Amino acid sequence: MSQTSYSAVSGIQHEEALLFEHAHEAAKSISLPGVEGDISPELQAFSRQEAAQIPGLSEPETVRHFVRMSQWNHSIETGFYPLGSCTMKYNPRVNEQVVRLPGLADIHPDQPIDSVQGVLELLYELQTWLCELAGFSDITLQPAAGAQGEITGLMMIRACLDARGEQHRKKVLVPDSAHGTNPASAALCGMHCVALKSRPDGRIDLDELKKHLDGDVAALMMTNPNTAGAFESDIKEICQLVHDAGGLVYGDGANLNALVGVARPGDMGIDCLHINVHKTFSTPHGGGGPGAGPVVVNEILAPYLPVPRIVKEGDVYRIETHDEQSCGTVLGSLGQVGVLLRAHAYIAAFGRNHLHKIAQDAVLNANYVLHRLKGAYHVPFEGLCKHECLLTDEYQNKHGVKTLDIAKQLIDLGFHPMTIYFPLIVHGAMLIEPTETESKTTLDSFCDAMLDIAAQCEAGDTQVLHDAPVKPFRRRLDETQAARKPVLVWQK
Ligand SMILES: Cc1ncc(COP(=O)(O)O)c(C=O)c1O
Repeated sequence: MSQTSYSAVSGIQHEEALLFEHAHEAAKSISLPGVEGDISPELQAFSRQEAAQIPGLSEPETVRHFVRMSQWNHSIETGFYPLGSCTMKYNPRVNEQVVRLPGLADIHPDQPIDSVQGVLELLYELQTWLCELAGFSDITLQPAAGAQGEITGLMMIRACLDARGEQHRKKVLVPDSAHGTNPASAALCGMHCVALKSRPDGRIDLDELKKHLDGDVAALMMTNPNTAGAFESDIKEICQLVHDAGGLVYGDGANLNALVGVARPGDMGIDCLHINVHKTFSTPHGGGGPGAGPVVVNEILAPYLPVPRIVKEGDVYRIETHDEQSCGTVLGSLGQVGVLLRAHAYIAAFGRNHLHKIAQDAVLNANYVLHRLKGAYHVPFEGLCKHECLLTDEYQNKHGVKTLDIAKQLIDLGFHPMTIYFPLIVHGAMLIEPTETESKTTLDSFCDAMLDIAAQCEAGDTQVLHDAPVKPFRRRLDETQAARKPVLVWQK
C-alpha cells in the first residue's frame, strides 16, 4: 500500500495507509510507566529487550483511522445484504438497547449467583422458548456459533452411541448440498463423512440414503429447508430410515427462520438441532463466533448436554457445573450472553402469537425475488422456494458472463452480492436471502439492478461487467493468492 493518505488530512476518503504508516514519533497515544523496584529472576526472563512496535499516534488519529476503515465496508446498516445461507439480517436497535441495560451489560460471569438471578431468568426463559419453538425437550445455550453447535451436537451423539456400546458407529451421512461446516464438524469429532448425492430437484434421494444406511452409521446431518431453499418433504421417512438403522438425525437448524412459528423440526423426527440465532433471531452473526448457536435436543440426547447449565429450583436459578454423562464443556460459562439476550429481545418483541410472521415474510420475500428474476436468470429447481432462492448464471454464460461478474457489478450498483458458487450442487450458483426485514421497495431496487445486468448481457454490453467493481477502493483481488498466501504481518 502506498504511503499516501489523503484521508488523513482532508477527510475525503480515497485511500488509507496502514496504522503503522500513519505513525509519527511526535505523538504516542499511550505512555507506559517504568517498572518500579527489582524484577525477580523468574520474570527477568520475560522482560522485553527492545521497545514494543506500537505505532506513534494520538488517540484522535487512531480513532479516525479505524472509523475511516469501517466506512469502506458495505454493512447491513448501509445497504441491502442478500447473502443466502450465511444471512446478514438487520439487527433491530431495540435489541441493542436491551443488552446495554446496566443489569445486563455490567455483570461478570463469576459474580455471586444471587446477584445475577435476573439474567439467569432471561436465559432460562430463552431456553424454554427455543425448546418450544423447535419442538425439543432440552437445550444448551453454550456454543458460540452454528458451527460450534454442530460439534456440540455430534459430541452428544458420540456420547450417546458410546453409552450404547456402539463405539464403532463413526459414519456421518451428509447431503452434497450441505454447508461446509457439516463435514468439517464431523471430521473434528473423529467421524468420517459420506456425501449423499442429491436428487435432480436438489432434495435428499431416499434410494441413495438407503444404500449408505448400515451398522456403521452414527448420524445423518441434514438441513431443512436445505441450502437450495427447498423443503425436504420426505423428512419424516428420512428420519425413520436413519433411526431404523440405529443412527441419529442431526438437524442443521440454520434455516429455522423459514419455519419458526409454523412448523417444528422436533416434530419431524430430528434428534438434535442447532439454531443460528443470527439467522432466525436477528443477532449479530459473529462469523463462526463469538455469536451463539444453541443446540436443542430430544430426551435421547438430553443426558449428554454440556455443562455448566442453568437449573431452576422453585424461583431460584443455580448453575450445575458437573454431570457424569455430560459430553463436556464447549465454551466458558453459559455462552455468549449478550448475543443470547438479543435473541430473547427479538422473540419478545414479536410475541408468541406473531412469531410465524418471521417465517411467512422471509418466505414471501424470497419468492417475490424469485418471481421477478426468473426468466432473466436460470432457476435450477422449479417451484416455490422457502426463505432463500437459487439462481444460476446459465443464461449469462452464453455472453461470456459468470456469476462472479454479476456479483462484482452489484457492488458498483450499491448492493452487497448474494452468496455465490454455493450450494455446490448447481453450477454458477447465486443464492439470495432477502430476510423478513426488507421492504418491497428495497427488494424492487435489487431486482431492478439484477434485471439491468441480465439486459446488459443480452445487449452484448458486457465489458463493464468484466471490469466491475470500479467504485470501491479495491477492485478484484486475487482471491486464491489471498487465501493461500495471505500477508498477515506488517513488515517495516
Ligand atoms: C446451513 C448452514 N449451516 C451452518 C452454518 C454455520 O453457522 P455459523 O456461521 O453460525 O458458524 C451456516 C452459516 O451461517 C449455514 O448457512
